[in-house]
This record gives sequence, C-alpha cells and structure tokens, in this order.
Amino acid sequence: MTGIEIVGTGRCVPGRLVTNDDLSRLVDTSDEWIRTRTGIAQRYFCAEGETNAQLAAGAARAALKRAGISAEQIGLCVAATFTADHAMPSLACEVHGALSLPESAPAFDVNAACTGFITALETARSLLAGGSVTGEYALVIGSESISRVLDMTDRNTCVLFGDGAGAAVIRLSDKHDYRCVMGARGDASLLHAGGAASEEHFVHMEGKAVFRFASETVPKCVMQVLDSAKMTMDDIDYVVCHQANGRIIDHVMKKLNAPAEKFYKNMQTYANTSAASIAIALDEMNEKGLLCPGTRVVCVGFGAGLTWGGTLLTF
Ligand code: UT7
Repeated sequence: MTGIEIVGTGRCVPGRLVTNDDLSRLVDTSDEWIRTRTGIAQRYFCAEGETNAQLAAGAARAALKRAGISAEQIGLCVAATFTADHAMPSLACEVHGALSLPESAPAFDVNAACTGFITALETARSLLAGGSVTGEYALVIGSESISRVLDMTDRNTCVLFGDGAGAAVIRLSDKHDYRCVMGARGDASLLHAGGAASEEHFVHMEGKAVFRFASETVPKCVMQVLDSAKMTMDDIDYVVCHQANGRIIDHVMKKLNAPAEKFYKNMQTYANTSAASIAIALDEMNEKGLLCPGTRVVCVGFGAGLTWGGTLLTF
C-alpha cells in the first residue's frame, strides 16, 4: 500500500467559548456531571455570522502555512463534514474558492460522520495513488458547525458537541508506513440529524447504545490496524481516538492494556467536534512537538452510520 506523508496540519476554532457552567444556565445539568461523564470542560460554538466554510478555510490556510506550500500546489481538496453550510455546493468547493485553489484540483465532501477525517484521508490517498488527479499534494479537512443542529433544550446532546476544523496537507510516500481499515453497519436509529427528508433537524443520539458500540468497535479497530502492519501497541507512539468521551478512551486503553500516556485527549477543550476531532488533535500534537520524524500514530474514528475507521500514520 502506498503510504502518505503529512506535510502540514492546521486548525481553526470559532469565536464563542461556551463553558459547562454557561450550559447549566440553559438546561438541567452541571459542570460536575459533564466533566465526570464525558471529560468535557468547554467547547467553542460559531458566533453570529460565523460559518463552517470559514472554519474549514481557516484550518486549510494554517495547514498550508505549516507545510510551507502554496495553494497552487494543491491537486485535490476533500472535506469531511455532516454540517456543511449548504447541501450544495460542497464545503470543499467553498474552501476551493476561498483559497483560490487551481481549477485542476477537484473538490468534494465526504460524510462518514465522526469517521469522516479517516475516510477523507483514505479517499485522498487513493485518488493521489490512482493517478486521476494531477498535483503532488492533497488538502484534507474535517470541519463542523454542529451548534447549528443542536437542540439547546436537550441536555442529552447539547452539552456534548462543539464546532471547529482541522486540516492536513498530504502527499504520497513509500517511506511513511500507512495502513487503513474501515467499516460500516447500516443503522440510522442510534445517531442521526437532519437532511432533506427529515422532519427532525437536530442531533438525536441514544448515548448509552453508542457508547457500547464505540467501546466494542474501537479496540477491535486498533487491533486490525496493528495486525495489518504486523505491529503491536509497543510499536506505536500515540493513539488518537475520535474525542467523543474520555471514558470511551479510558475503556479502550484498558481493553488494549496500553499506557494512558499513549492516548491523546483534548475533549476537555473542544468537546466532540465529529469529523474535525482527530484533525484538531493531530494539529495540537504537531504544535506541541509530539510528532517527530518516525513517530507512529494510530487514529480511530467512530460514529453515526454506524461507521468506524482506523489508520496508521507515520510522521
Ligand atoms: O461522536 C459520535 C459518537 N458518540 C459517542 O460516542 C457518545 C457515546 N455516549 C456517551 O458518551 C454517553 O452515553 C453520554 C455522555 C452521552 C451519556 O452518559 P451516560 O453515562 O451513558 O448517561 P445516561 O445517558 O445513561 O444518563 C444517565 C443519567 C440519566 O438520568 P436518570 O435517567 O438516570 O435519572 C440522564 O437523564 O444522566 C442524565 N443526564 C444528564 N444529567 C445531567 C443525561 N444528560 C445529562 C446532562 N446533565 N447533560
């Protein structure tokens, strides 16, 4: 399998900081409940007039800057989201316009909910490897404005999510070990939101059932990635799970008998940003100097669909 090199990462969060205490003034909840049940302390919501496209373009610009390449060098733009500002055009096309990407670079969205960034990475890699796009680099974005589809009277969901965007500039590389596994279980009952045929605009989640699904699926997915690379947890520096709930991540580390230091967590700052969460985490880690040449990271996404996907990235 031809691998990928991540040559730059970026992130962008919107302007409105919302604490758990802020939400406890809207619904019957408390900072204590949210922190202990999820690990979340705060989240960012889009301010009035702020759009998903602005977040996605902000993250993309930051990733290009860190990669040290210009917009003209981008051959493909893939955005993962379930909260695009419009049903059409795609979020990726909005970023394409905002950054003046070349006309030779196709742009489209993928929707695999919280597995979106993993799916978008593999989609971009496959297209680069297949030779159907010209240009050396692809821009891969995970970006959400989930606050737009939250029922702010439903304490079961409104405390869990946040808005934000993360992006990566990638290119093909045989020197950077890469693996990817993905799966889906067609089941719309546990987690869904909006859409053209839906009368329900807001996110609905059967939290306990999704928690069970994640706790079973994520450890299996990590093991599948490791097995496909003939590696064990000892060969891996970090595991970056989708940041839905700190207790899910604790369960995964226990099940894999792996040390807590290997599991990156940042849901305390951003809450669950769906397709953006893994991309935001990678950018934070990059900024902190955790991703040195040779660092191996397994990323695992899981969410509505139900979907899941795991990838081995080497920096
Ligand atoms: O990103 C996609 C993937 N998403 C996930 O992986 C999320 C998976 N699920 C979860 O993270 C957890 O199930 C939740 C955080 C959503 C809920 O935690 P839980 O421990 O499963 O709580 P629960 O739903 O069983 O609710 C326990 C109690 C209930 O009260 P009763 O019925 O025991 O009286 C809820 O009504 O907690 C109550 N509750 C709340 N209390 C205060 C639910 N939400 C809140 C709240 N504040 N915000």
